[in-house]
Parts: sequence; C-alpha cells; structure tokens
Amino acid sequence: MIELRTPAEIDEMRPAGRFVAETLATLRDETRVGTNLLQIDRRAHELIRRAGAESCYLDYAPSFGSGPFGYVICTSVNDAVLHGRPYDYAVKDGDLVTLDFAVSIDGWVADSAVSFVVGTPRDEDLKLIETTERALDAGIAAAQPGGKVGDISAAIAAVAHGEGLSINTDFGGHGVGRTMHGDPHIPNNGRAGRGFPLKPGLVVAIEPWFLHTTDKLVTDDRDGWTLRSADGSRGAHSEHTIAITADGPVVLTDRSFLSQ
Ligand code: MF3
Ligand code: CO
Repeated sequence: MIELRTPAEIDEMRPAGRFVAETLATLRDETRVGTNLLQIDRRAHELIRRAGAESCYLDYAPSFGSGPFGYVICTSVNDAVLHGRPYDYAVKDGDLVTLDFAVSIDGWVADSAVSFVVGTPRDEDLKLIETTERALDAGIAAAQPGGKVGDISAAIAAVAHGEGLSINTDFGGHGVGRTMHGDPHIPNNGRAGRGFPLKPGLVVAIEPWFLHTTDKLVTDDRDGWTLRSADGSRGAHSEHTIAITADGPVVLTDRSFLSQ
C-alpha cells in the first residue's frame, strides 16, 4: 500500500532524517585505517541511545537475510556492497567502505547510505563513488510531482550506462514511513513515464548502487546477509530519503549543511 504524507507529517519526519545524516557524517569521519567494523556498530548504537532513536535494523528479519540482522548499521567493505553485517575486521588502507543506516524517531523512519575510501584511494573507486552519487542526484532531480517512478529509475540508469556500468534491479529504493521498507519499489533501471505516479506526500528512499565489472551478487554464506559482487569487484552505494512536495523533492537525510 502506498501512503501519502501531509506537509505536517513530512515536518515530523525531519528529526529522523537529520539524525541519520549527522550520524553518517560522524561515523564516516571517525572511520580510519584500523577502525573495526564492530566499533562502528557500537558507536552507532551509542548515538542511537543518546538520541532516543530506534534502530530499524537490529531485529529486522526480512526474507532476503538470515534471521534478525543483529546490528544497527550495515558496513559493506570492498566487494561487499549491500547489507554488510559488521564483523571483527579492521579497516585497511584503501578500503572502499559503505555505511547504510536507518532509524526511527517519533515513529518516523529515515534511511541513508554513503560510500567513501579510507586512506589512500584508487582512482577507479573514487570514480565509482562519484557515479553513484551523481546517479542519486539525478534520481532526486527526477522525483518531481506529476512524474512517475520510472522517471527516477531512468535518470539513475542513464548515469550508470553513461559510465558503462550494468545495473542489478533486485535491490533498489522503496517507500519510507512508519516502517523502513514500503511501496513503491524504485528500481535503479526503468522507463521514464512508466510506473506509479509521483504525488506530493510520497516519501521514498532512492538508492543507486553499482559494481565495477558485474551486476551479479552473491550472499556471503558465513553470515547469510552480506551481499558481495559475484566477481570480487568493488561496489559503491548512495542513498537518501526524500519527500516529494508540491515544490519538488526535499532531501530529508541531506548532509550538505554539515561540514561533509
Ligand atoms: N537500509 C537498507 C536499505 O537501504 C536495508 C538494510 S536491511 C538490513 O534499504 F537489515 F540489512 F539492515
Ligand atoms: Co534503503
């Protein structure tokens, strides 16, 4: 079911969006060579507690994962791109890290992800991150009232195809509200002018993710959660929760007002 939010409800969603934005910025800044993924999770947990927020991940047990997730943040490193379950691993120089984080505050969810390189970057990794960010920006710009979900999908796909990347549509964006994953699904590839109408009050997460040289994923059989590229190539992922308003899209998890 697709639910539309009133402008007052969208205002009520802002604290969750702001907290998710601030927390991702903090955790990204604190992640250095040697930082353990379990440390990032513990720190995220502490920030959640301090804010009186509620994790969307801890007890989450969807069909695409094995049992409750058990942690409050996804930490996907290198060939891991989505749903990276934190484990005892110290980040190394040049690692490509994605943090994906969702909480609710006052009953409203916000969901966002950021990719970055720790230490000395490889040019190709910076380029992949820049491409996912540009695809996210294009998807957001296409999220206009009067349009269709396919407008967002097509805008994302155009950026990926422009870089010669292939696209996996098994995991993509989604409605966001009282729960993290709702309708409509927002595939990272599709046709403009098709799909569900974008109406003022629709709140969605848009989340392009790409791998260097494949669009195939495999589930890590050690944890039943982490999604890795099938060929070992690295991946990047950028996600924001946005509200479509009569005046256009509003990014609820915007980090640009922070130092970056
Ligand atoms: N936040 C992720 C998404 O972007 C979903 C993570 S599910 C988890 O939709 F259980 F792995 F945390
Ligand atoms: Co999401």
